[in-house]
Amino acid sequence: MNDKNLIEVKLLNKTFTKKVGRHLFNRKVIPVHAVNNVSFEVKKGETLGIIGESGCGKTTTARMLLRLQKETSGEIYFKGTDLCKLNEKQTAKFRSNMQMIFQDPYDTLNPGMRIIDILMEPINAHLKGLSHKEKKAMVKESIEAIDLKPAERFIYRYPHELSGGQRQRIAIARSIILEPDFIAADEPTSMLDVSVRAGILNLLLKLKEKMGLTMMFITHDLTTASYMCDRIAVMYQGEIVEIGTTQEVINYPSHPYTRALVSVVTDLNHFIDNRERIILDGEVDATMEKKGCIFVNRCPFKEEHCEHHSPDFIQKEENHFVACSCLDKVPAGLPKEQIFDKKPVS
Ligand SMILES: Nc1ncnc2c1ncn2[C@@H]1O[C@H](COP(=O)(O)OP(=O)(O)OP(=O)(O)O)[C@@H](O)[C@H]1O
Ligand SMILES: [Mg+2]
Repeated sequence: MNDKNLIEVKLLNKTFTKKVGRHLFNRKVIPVHAVNNVSFEVKKGETLGIIGESGCGKTTTARMLLRLQKETSGEIYFKGTDLCKLNEKQTAKFRSNMQMIFQDPYDTLNPGMRIIDILMEPINAHLKGLSHKEKKAMVKESIEAIDLKPAERFIYRYPHELSGGQRQRIAIARSIILEPDFIAADEPTSMLDVSVRAGILNLLLKLKEKMGLTMMFITHDLTTASYMCDRIAVMYQGEIVEIGTTQEVINYPSHPYTRALVSVVTDLNHFIDNRERIILDGEVDATMEKKGCIFVNRCPFKEEHCEHHSPDFIQKEENHFVACSCLDKVPAGLPKEQIFDKKPVS
């Protein structure tokens, strides 16, 4: 495993099954290829964005990394250990080091528990032997880190006594309380009021800097990804179709699907707005039998061979890879004026 990587994922697959048909007792079971032969790495200290439309396999990928879901096949190396080979007991040792922040803060906090008890849970599970006073000090420190001050005002409340944004902050406090190396945030702001979204994103950036975290940030929104991520992996129907630095992917989107995504972003303020919008026909179908390029039924540049051959990754730049075998037909980059300059995180 490369020293610079915290996580390496190799040929990861997850297939679910789904019942189809109208007759209650005679339904056909068909496979749903949620994640297909996905390989990527997460470098130490970076934020890797996973973007793609609904149902493309973002959450399933993160859940397998965090061992909340078992893979159908593949390897996930975390600091050199293949997590897929570990049993329950061995996996438990890694849990405190990898945490997930979920989309819905209303769903993830137990409504019957006070904030102090919610935050003590991971401490009790992983740091046995601390006194109550020490544990309470950790809880207060984590609450102050997520900018709910003074902590005493919040720790004895129940989740329903907090706003959506405050609840998501508590979920973030729970994810950092054991000082993990890795956090996967799965659309952490999509259920929140627009007015509090920026605050949560900035909080995550601040914590990442302060704690030296490595992050995976899942979103279907390219603007948010451009703000949060150092690199972006674009997923389509269970596969990564393009991966590269944020600047490369946004300035020089190369896969026809990424180009369509970038073309319809309206609020990257560095884009001029006379672009040609690329509107895709059809929709994602995760039950589609897999042969050839996964994007073939929606691709404006497809050729006959795309129906039968899966494209290999082509390296465009040092840190930019694209899975498309018709790249010579795809227009290169976007007009110069649209160049997006990722600001360093302050
Ligand atoms: N437990 C499950 N059983 C059956 N199918 C599932 C299950 N979980 C996910 N899927 C299917 O796997 C595919 C990928 O789902 P996933 O939730 O990973 O997508 P996603 O990219 O996170 O979508 P969204 O943006 O809507 O959250 C979808 O077709 C989904 O219906
Ligand atoms: Mg999801």
